[in-house]
Amino acid sequence: MIPTPQDPPSSTVQVPLGDRSYDIVIASGLIQNAAQQIHTAIPDLSHALVITDAAVDDPWGTQICENLRSASQKAAVNQKSVPSGEPSKSISEFESLLTWMLEEGGDRRSVVIAIGGGVIGDLAGYAAASFTRGIRFVQIPTTLLAMVDSSVGGKTGINLPGAKNMVGAFWQPNLVLIDTDVLSTLPDRSFLSGLAEVIKYGVIDDPDFFSWLETNAHSLVSRDSDALRQAIQVSCECKARVVGEDERETSGRRAILNYGHTFAHAIEATAGYGKLLHGEAVAIGMQMAVRLAINIGLTDKTLLERQTELIQACRLPTHLPEADPSAMLPVMMRDKKVAHGKLRFILPSCLGEVALVGGIDENAVIEAIQSTRQPAAG
Ligand code: GLY
Repeated sequence: MIPTPQDPPSSTVQVPLGDRSYDIVIASGLIQNAAQQIHTAIPDLSHALVITDAAVDDPWGTQICENLRSASQKAAVNQKSVPSGEPSKSISEFESLLTWMLEEGGDRRSVVIAIGGGVIGDLAGYAAASFTRGIRFVQIPTTLLAMVDSSVGGKTGINLPGAKNMVGAFWQPNLVLIDTDVLSTLPDRSFLSGLAEVIKYGVIDDPDFFSWLETNAHSLVSRDSDALRQAIQVSCECKARVVGEDERETSGRRAILNYGHTFAHAIEATAGYGKLLHGEAVAIGMQMAVRLAINIGLTDKTLLERQTELIQACRLPTHLPEADPSAMLPVMMRDKKVAHGKLRFILPSCLGEVALVGGIDENAVIEAIQSTRQPAAG
């Protein structure tokens, strides 16, 4: 497509996976143009199974369905909306999606289009991975968290009672469409929560990006469209690189994306359901990880100071007064990343460098959790 002078700036990031490579397109106003983008990536589109988060049916789901119907008169377009929230990542919701896909005449050539946050992307992606042993799918994430993390990289799945993401498949989308305009209607807390994953990429892989975030935190918090597009682009580039190197998390490289997450999952499980959003728990989890790295002599206070300031500039929490190691440790031991009963953490040695560290003394972990009860000393 030849850009016209009126076209807003657009970025394309490729996820390099051989013949399963795909593009992530990031721009403002992309949803108005979704059908064209989808047809370019999937020229033989004949049946779209559009699965939307009930919270974004109006306007995004409706607009995309109308756009698809008017752009492709020969393609059938069916839509189903799924209730918002983590409980939808269940076996019963998964079953009802598959039944609906069959009832709508779905077959191997049908294409799933997932519109929503991480819950819908994971659920609809797993339905796409399973239906007739795998059909094509497109991710249209509508939260910042999904844009920079869950919609990219092919992790799909659902929860079992008490066990998050325990069932699923690696199933890559054929296209990811990120419209930054969607972010303007997100509630503040949900939007800011996504910034925690953006900061994560700076710490694990890119010191220049971390410095850019320090300079541009104010523009990001005020949802400046160009700053957001750049931050999403660099985050997706980092994720695409890591996924390209270790798609199925076998070499350990992909595990770096879990920086702060072993702590965060335990915080989410023990702080009380719904008290903290995922990104808020990740922000505190990253603080615990740096403190643990300091406790075992892997890094010094400089990183803690810079990370604390950036998290605060993004209006995210840096400490948790009720952090309770005796409740968190058992949850961490059940984490999928635990190998043979030994706790392992992604820990930074300096900005841009992290490693998977095992064999850590439990007391150092307890101390890291406890020290996050108070704000970091400036
Ligand atoms: N969110 C971690 C990963 O995609 O591997």
